Amino acid sequence: MKIDRFYNLLWQDFVSLAPQAAAIKEKLELLGENVVNDHVAFRTFNMAPINLNNLESYITALGYRRLDSYHFAKKHLDAWSYIRPAAGGSTVDPLIFFSELNVSALSEKAQVIIRRLVNENAVAIQNELEKLTSEVEVPFFCRGRVWSMVTYNEYQQLLAESEYAAWVAVHGFHANHFTVSLNHLKQRRRVEAVLEWVTQQGYTVNEVGGRVKGSPAVRLEQGSTMADQVAVTFSCGHTEAIPGGFYEFARRYPTDKGDLFLGFVESNADKIFESTSSRLNRSE
Ligand code: NI
Repeated sequence: MKIDRFYNLLWQDFVSLAPQAAAIKEKLELLGENVVNDHVAFRTFNMAPINLNNLESYITALGYRRLDSYHFAKKHLDAWSYIRPAAGGSTVDPLIFFSELNVSALSEKAQVIIRRLVNENAVAIQNELEKLTSEVEVPFFCRGRVWSMVTYNEYQQLLAESEYAAWVAVHGFHANHFTVSLNHLKQRRRVEAVLEWVTQQGYTVNEVGGRVKGSPAVRLEQGSTMADQVAVTFSCGHTEAIPGGFYEFARRYPTDKGDLFLGFVESNADKIFESTSSRLNRSE
């Protein structure tokens, strides 16, 4: 699949979980900005066949390669970042941040739920992975849930232990967020300035650990909206609005060598994860 087509399909799918992202992008374009995507983020469970190590084949098939690894002890998450090197060594394509939850850190009760979901279509997914070529028609990360819906009670059980687990169980595979590269904006190139504008437009900003995560000293400043609330019908018939996707804003700074920092910063990302927290969204 051509990289442009991959990102077009991914975005079309993503905005169903994050309509605010489409609206904010359009508002920026109306101001004359050309919106460039810094990175997208994917989430999964560390259980075969959907563990990160397996699913990254879908990313490497697009020409990406691993860049750095990250660990989030309290959230039981591990992540890799991916870069798609262009000719000449520079990167023009978005980075990818792909995390997985260490399911064994959860209670036996939660593990039983997740194991049931993952096992449901494990054989078909495994077969598909074995036959993987670069000609995939629909990105795996547009497929949504590749298992049956959980009950509301099961969702609550997962949510009590891991917001991340609850999110993946209900939504499955989508981009979790897209990110506006502030380096490419003509105005509002600082994160605080763009967050102020986003707030003025009527959107809620993630305030966990402060509105701006990071600083020029760590070469990366980030901020984000709180996820849109999307209506979901659980298998028991109960319908409720729960957090979907969100929009991030990132400004990168040059390293001492002079090239733009292309990594991520764990203490920033740790707080960006909170953008899908329902506890925080409840105050809306
Ligand atoms: Ni991000």
